[in-house]
Amino acid sequence: MATEKIQIFDTTLRDGEQVPGCKLNKEQKLIIASRLDELGVDVIEAGFPISSPGDFEAVDAISQIVTHATVCGLTRANIKDIECAVRALEKAIKPRIHTGIGTSENHMKHKFNCSEQQIIDRAAEAVAFAKRYVDDVEFYAEDAGRSDNAFLAKVCEEVIKAGATVLNIPDTTGYCLPEEYGKKINYLKEHVSGIENAILSCHCHNDLGLATANSIAGIQNGARQIECTINGIGERAGNTSMEEVVMIMKQHPYLNFHTDINTRMLTEMSRLVSDSMGMIVQPNKAIVGSNAFAHSSGIHQDGVIKNRETYEIIDPQEVGVNESSIVLTARSGRSALAYRFKNIGFEVTKLELDELYIRFLDVADRKKEVNNEDLHGIMQQFQYQQQSKAI
Ligand code: KIV
Ligand code: ZN
Repeated sequence: MATEKIQIFDTTLRDGEQVPGCKLNKEQKLIIASRLDELGVDVIEAGFPISSPGDFEAVDAISQIVTHATVCGLTRANIKDIECAVRALEKAIKPRIHTGIGTSENHMKHKFNCSEQQIIDRAAEAVAFAKRYVDDVEFYAEDAGRSDNAFLAKVCEEVIKAGATVLNIPDTTGYCLPEEYGKKINYLKEHVSGIENAILSCHCHNDLGLATANSIAGIQNGARQIECTINGIGERAGNTSMEEVVMIMKQHPYLNFHTDINTRMLTEMSRLVSDSMGMIVQPNKAIVGSNAFAHSSGIHQDGVIKNRETYEIIDPQEVGVNESSIVLTARSGRSALAYRFKNIGFEVTKLELDELYIRFLDVADRKKEVNNEDLHGIMQQFQYQQQSKAI
């Protein structure tokens, strides 16, 4: 059965770069953009051109080097922002303007002090204005996660009439539960006339740790684009993590979705973004954390040595990691020790292993992790004592 394509919209250079301390210079942004293009993302949100001259320059420069992906610039729903984004995107092969406004009661009252009708008018005017310059206009309904569905549907209908090709439904505050977010997408699919002319997009934040689950619920209910970042970086607790949603689709083929991402580049992309931004990836981060394919308890190690799939659902090579690692700690068993000795060139008998294991535990109880150097030390001492006994 043919699977449906989910567009991957990367916002590492926009929502991701908004994180305090994650500022990138133009050269770093260009390197990341060109690697994202090779990775196979469909859209690169390159920045928010009116926010600073540096961001304008970066969007302009990225527009000139990206050859496959659509290059997108963020704006608020006003003429000045849109004109600025149009200039920054002038040289892009496939430009997209991403404009929008808040649609929740909270945003309408406290941010804009506007009536519902004024919000609808501003949204439709912004889209129509952007449409004069580019064919591809994405509209975001900020705080859609907490917006009333019937009102959201009205806004969506009007911006489609004004020419929006993509409707971004952000859970800006990361508030929704997966079922709730999925139902929201489904509601829009069923109640917005003209929805067949637009793509619904998920843009989820991770305040409750649900960004990935919500994005998956979104595509299961009709969305066809996911907005995400490498390593899940982004405002506050971050955005949907690209590596997670891409691998979920790959590991669950019955969902019938695919992306164009070359998953073998995911680990190097993660390292590039982490090193460029100076933002450490937590070791237990799904897919790209340093422990994602590391096994340390004896029971797990024994299973993985016998057959990798006993404790791994992803072949590490699929995400660009050479092999799983067997980490030696005081919780490790004999089979892990024999395996690691073999890796450094020592085949040991069962009797030798019993003796070596006692020595290993002695070191492991004093150290967090036993490395190859320690193993050589243990082996040397063992061999020396065996020779002394023989004399
Ligand atoms: O989270 C959000 O609502 C956003 C929009 C500006 C798209 O990042
Ligand atoms: Zn966001």
